[in-house]
Amino acid sequence: MSKKVSRRTFGKIAGATALASTLDLPALGSKALPQGDALRAFPPGFIWGTATASYQVEGAFKEDGRGPSIWDTFSHTPGKVVNNANGDVADDHYHLYKSDVQLMKALGVKAYRFSIAWPRVFPNGDGPANPKGLDFYSRLVDELLANGIQPYATLYHWDLPQSLQDRFGGWEGRETSKAFADYAGYVAARLTDRIKHIFTINEFGAFVEVGYRWGIHAPGLKLTGRRLNQTRHHAVLGHGLAVQAIRAAAKRGTKVGLAENVSITVPVIETRAHIAAAERAMRETNAQYLTVIMEGKYTDWYLKQAAAEAPKFTSEDLKAISSPLDFVGINVYTPHFVRADESSPVGFAPVPHPPSFPHASSPWLFIGPDALYWGPRHLAKIWGVKDIYITENGCSSADVPEQDGRVYDTDRVTYLRSYLTQLRRATAEGIPVHGYFLWSLMDNFEWADGYTNRFGLHYVDYTTQKRTPKLSADFYREVIARNAVV
Ligand code: FCB
Repeated sequence: MSKKVSRRTFGKIAGATALASTLDLPALGSKALPQGDALRAFPPGFIWGTATASYQVEGAFKEDGRGPSIWDTFSHTPGKVVNNANGDVADDHYHLYKSDVQLMKALGVKAYRFSIAWPRVFPNGDGPANPKGLDFYSRLVDELLANGIQPYATLYHWDLPQSLQDRFGGWEGRETSKAFADYAGYVAARLTDRIKHIFTINEFGAFVEVGYRWGIHAPGLKLTGRRLNQTRHHAVLGHGLAVQAIRAAAKRGTKVGLAENVSITVPVIETRAHIAAAERAMRETNAQYLTVIMEGKYTDWYLKQAAAEAPKFTSEDLKAISSPLDFVGINVYTPHFVRADESSPVGFAPVPHPPSFPHASSPWLFIGPDALYWGPRHLAKIWGVKDIYITENGCSSADVPEQDGRVYDTDRVTYLRSYLTQLRRATAEGIPVHGYFLWSLMDNFEWADGYTNRFGLHYVDYTTQKRTPKLSADFYREVIARNAVV
C-alpha cells in the first residue's frame, strides 16, 4: 500500500461506505455485542482513561507564581533536547483545559490521569506555598467531575523544583524525600475531598536512571556507585514518606499507589522453567524500586552486587518505603525477555532484542504486546497485588495529517489492539486489573525528544494548538463503548 492512503482508498480498504470527520462505527454497547465480541470483553466497570503529565502539556511556565523546575533549566540549556524544544508553551493545557476535558468526554473516558506540578504548589519545593498554583488543579478537578470523569492525580512526574536541585542535589539529598512528603500531605489535605486516587511518583526507574545516571533527562547528571544507589534509595524513601503523609492528611476513602515503569520480564517461551525464571527476574531487575517497596527489603543479590556501594539506610526507612498501598500502577511499553539459566546464581539470563526487533518511532519502544499480560500477572503472582492499574500504555508514530486533515495512524491502532488483547488475556484469567490509562490524550512534549515523537490520540498542531482526533481516537472510543477489544 502506498504511503499516502487517501480517505477514499482507506474507505474501500475498511469496507466503510462513508467517512465523515470520524469513522462513525455504531457504538453497540455491551448488550449488543456482535458474536465473538464476548470473548474480547473486559470485566464490567473496567475503568478506561487517558493520561498526561504537567510539564509535557501545561505550558504557562511562569504563570501564577510557578517556580522553575529542573526541566525548565534542562530544556533551556542548548543541546539537551531535540531542536532545543522546551515546555514553555507545550499544549497550553493550562489555558485550554476546559476544551481538553471535552476531548476526553467525546472519547467516553471515565478517568483522567494527570500530574500536579510541584513547583506550582511550592515554587521553591519547600517553604511558602503558592495557593494560585494549587487552584489550577482544583479547577481542573471540578471541570472533570462536572463532565463525569474521575481525576487520578500523580504528585511527581519529574518536574522537580529547581531550588531543591540547587540546595540538596535533588533526589541525591534526603531533604528532597522529606520535602516531597510535606508537599504530598499539603495537596492531600486540600484536594482529596474530590480526588480519590493519588499516585505518589511516576517511574522511579526512569527519572533516576535517565536523569541522574545517564544524564539524558533533567537534571542531566551521571552519578555512579554509592551516590547513584543513594539517589535511588531517596526516591523510594520519598514515595514511602509521602504515602504516610497522604494517609495522615487525606479524607477517608482516598486510595494511594504509584505508577512505575517496572522492567517487565517476559518468558521467551511459555514453559514452566522460563516462566519461573521470568518471575525470579522480575524481583531482581526491579530490586531498587518496586521490589523494595513491595517487600520492605532490598534483595540479597542486589546488596551483594552493590557491596560497598550499597545505599545507607535504616530499618525505619524500609518500613516507610514499604508502607501498604491500595493499588499498584504500572506503565507498560516494552518487554524484557528472559530465559531460564541454571548456570546463573539468580537462575535467569536476559535475552536481548535482536537489531531487527520491531519498535515504534521511539527507538526504545520495542513492541511486545505480551508485556501487558506478564506485567499484571507478575504483580498478582509474586506480590499478591489485588488492585492493579495500567497507568500508561501507548506508542509513538510518525503521524502526518492527510489531505482531509485526518491522521490515519493504523500503526498505533494495531499496536493498541495487540496490547489490549494481551491485557484481556490477563483479566480473563482473573488477574485483578481494574483500569487502563492510554498514553496519551494528545501529542505533547516528549522529554529529550522534544516534539518529534507523537504519542497522542489527538494530533496537536503546535502553532495553532488545534487538536484533531486521529484514527486511534475512533478506535479507543469504540473500545470504551463496547468495553471490549475491537
Ligand atoms: C513514559 C513517561 C511519560 C511519556 C511516555 C512516552 O516513560 O512516563 O511521561 O513520556 O513514557
